[in-house]
Amino acid sequence: MAQIQTACHVVELKKINATYLRLVLEAPALAAAARPGQFIHIRVSDGNEPFFRRPFSIYRAQAGKVEIFFEPVGRGSKLLASRKRGDVLDVLGPLGHGFTPPGKDVKQVVFIAGGIGVAPFMIFSDAIKEHKAEKILLYGARSKAQTFATGGLKKNGVKVFVATDDGSVGTSGRVSELFDRVKASPDTMIYTCGPRPMMAAVQAFARTHGLKGEVSCEEVMACGLGACLGCSIPTVNGYRTVCHDGPVFDLQAPVFG
Ligand SMILES: Cc1cc2nc3c(=O)[nH]c(=O)nc-3n(C[C@H](O)[C@H](O)[C@H](O)COP(=O)(O)OP(=O)(O)OC[C@H]3O[C@@H](n4cnc5c(N)ncnc54)[C@H](O)[C@@H]3O)c2cc1C
Ligand code: FES
Repeated sequence: MAQIQTACHVVELKKINATYLRLVLEAPALAAAARPGQFIHIRVSDGNEPFFRRPFSIYRAQAGKVEIFFEPVGRGSKLLASRKRGDVLDVLGPLGHGFTPPGKDVKQVVFIAGGIGVAPFMIFSDAIKEHKAEKILLYGARSKAQTFATGGLKKNGVKVFVATDDGSVGTSGRVSELFDRVKASPDTMIYTCGPRPMMAAVQAFARTHGLKGEVSCEEVMACGLGACLGCSIPTVNGYRTVCHDGPVFDLQAPVFG
């Protein structure tokens, strides 16, 4: 699919809690083309610093708007957080290969997310709202302050189970404490996105129980188009770029080592 480089107006940029901001962009062509698991690559400043764009998962794409949620962690994302309603951002996307929709035979769809890794599952749950499978989200965060609103997923029929490291909300401990919600069946499909140790744990769990799945990986990016190879990661099939070959891979493909 062709990528679109477009100048998008900021419709909304708002802090939603102590950790995350919500950015809504006016982007009709992008919104129409976006698929679950794809990302957009944003020039965060009007000058040359920082030179490279920053990648963000598409959280929602509807009614001509594209929405992302992000945490200001460094220079680029902090600059993005300082933008205002009405500003124009240079956006490239939608990029990468997204999730494969579950087949008709799938009876349980399991989203497993850590922190901001939940972002791609909103648009995904929009896309598979009518699918008959049971849909659950196992969501892990450091504490209540880092949890992310999951009301939209619930509206789409997804049952949400939360675990926090400090037990401030949901089950106390890592998201793996919630793995007993997963039906060990060939009709189960797992989709995961989050910190690398969490994805490695999901991969190991799925391997042990012979479960199918896909994983959305993150890597620091430059071009975002598969040209510079800067975001290559080791996989069982050799090195692959996260931006172009991914970010979504078969769950057993990445070598998290
Ligand atoms: C496909 C994809 C989707 C993403 N979706 C989201 C999202 O929906 N919301 C969100 O908040 N963030 C998301 N990220 C991460 C986001 O791109 C980084 O947080 C951002 O690029 C950091 O830029 P910076 O200039 O603020 O930080 P920098 O100053 O460049 O780095 C700050 C710290 O973050 C680390 N870092 C930088 N980029 C990444 C990265 N891509 N992955 C992991 N660690 C990184 C650096 O190593 C450093 O420790 C996504 C990344 C990818 C690859
Ligand atoms: S960022 Fe250049 S190949 Fe992925």
